[in-house]
Amino acid sequence: MIQKTYISHLTSKKNETVELAGWVVKVRDSGKICFMQFRDGTGFIQVVATPNDMSAEEFEIMRHLSIESAVKIKGIVAENVKSPSGIEIIAKELTLVSKTENYPITPKEHGTDFLMDIRHLWIRSPRQHAILRIRHQIITAIRHYFDDLDFTLTDAPIFTANECEGSSTLFTTEYFGENAYLSQSGQLYMEAACQAVGRAYCFGPTFRAEKSNTRRHLTEFWMVEPEVAYMDLEGCMELAEGLIQAIVKRVLEHCPQELKILERNLEPLESVIAGPFPRISYDEAVEIIKKSGTHFEYGDDFGGADETIISNAFNRPVIVHSYPTAIKPFYMKKDPKNPSVVRNMDVLAPEGYGEVIGGGQREEKYETLLESILASGLNPETYSWYLDVRRFGAVPHAGFGLGVERCVAWIAGISHVRETGLFPRMPQRLRP
Ligand code: 4AD
Ligand code: MG
Repeated sequence: MIQKTYISHLTSKKNETVELAGWVVKVRDSGKICFMQFRDGTGFIQVVATPNDMSAEEFEIMRHLSIESAVKIKGIVAENVKSPSGIEIIAKELTLVSKTENYPITPKEHGTDFLMDIRHLWIRSPRQHAILRIRHQIITAIRHYFDDLDFTLTDAPIFTANECEGSSTLFTTEYFGENAYLSQSGQLYMEAACQAVGRAYCFGPTFRAEKSNTRRHLTEFWMVEPEVAYMDLEGCMELAEGLIQAIVKRVLEHCPQELKILERNLEPLESVIAGPFPRISYDEAVEIIKKSGTHFEYGDDFGGADETIISNAFNRPVIVHSYPTAIKPFYMKKDPKNPSVVRNMDVLAPEGYGEVIGGGQREEKYETLLESILASGLNPETYSWYLDVRRFGAVPHAGFGLGVERCVAWIAGISHVRETGLFPRMPQRLRP
């Protein structure tokens, strides 16, 4: 058995008889006419029933349906200008598949902790549903973007012996008598891959043992990481700009209903695709923070609040480049003209969302890289394979990582990354 008609198909089926299978959102009834809000996973629709159109017995069942009971409906697709999709179903037959009692989520307000504890049920509600669908379109846009540019998907391992983004955020696990880490980033592997396939990318879960309970941090998040041989920092900025514009464009095209449910202001999204992103240096970004009256120590990394100030100064994502070498990881390329800064970039989303992309040009010189590895207190033996990439045919190369959840939070316009995926992982949340 396979269900063939879905709510998302109905606008092309006016006046046809269809069968839908789904769940009850809400029932309102006056004894003579009954309205049911119904969902099937692809959308929401109103079902109308009267005792004239269906058997008295089924009408009685429908009147007393409880929230989230599972039902099948046979009915006619009819026009209704008042409904959001312009159509509704006139019910002819109803089958109760399973009855639900005492569904814990009711129309009254619930606290987020309570809802996070029943995340397995919360995901059915219209807002959470809309966010999941937007996430799907963002991921689809990413895959299309890199496919269209002839990238090769070369996914990186999750068990690794190499740290990439600092030892303080590593998850360690026992691996047959030695320690392994859960990957913080597939970047180092993509650097090897791009010298094999030219343009490589990986797309998968990454892990950070960050005890930061902020609205931007998860312990497990999805990252897409392109890496390109013979690309410099400027090329990297172009690639990142194009990706973000492709994502926003696709969501605007494919998710108008979802954005409406979320009451997303579309104006800031439309301006993302209207022109190029401003590019400013770390020094210029510091000036913006200082001008806002906020104290900032030159040389420090930007915190979430600093990024908010910088991004609020622009109505489009802003690319900040050339951060101090001292606060950045070992693999970043020092600027040959000024080795106290690196050839890196962060893309900060507008509306105060902050960093969604981090990346830049990598150090391709063997000796300089070895020095940086030693200076960071890392064991060069563990990185011998990574150094080999420089020993054999080293070329300038660059890449970046885009965090999917931060991107979803921004585009969907929600305040916290915990609502951007199915079952988010945070320091205090391993369940459900
Ligand atoms: O800036 P990050 O740490 O950069 C890297 O990992 C590079 N190795 C990527 C590369 O060049 N291939 O992380 C990249 C992005 C951030 O901009 C952010 O969007 C996301 O990953 N991110 C997180 N998202 C959610 N929770 C966290 N704890 C995150 N840490 C980073
Ligand atoms: Mg970063």
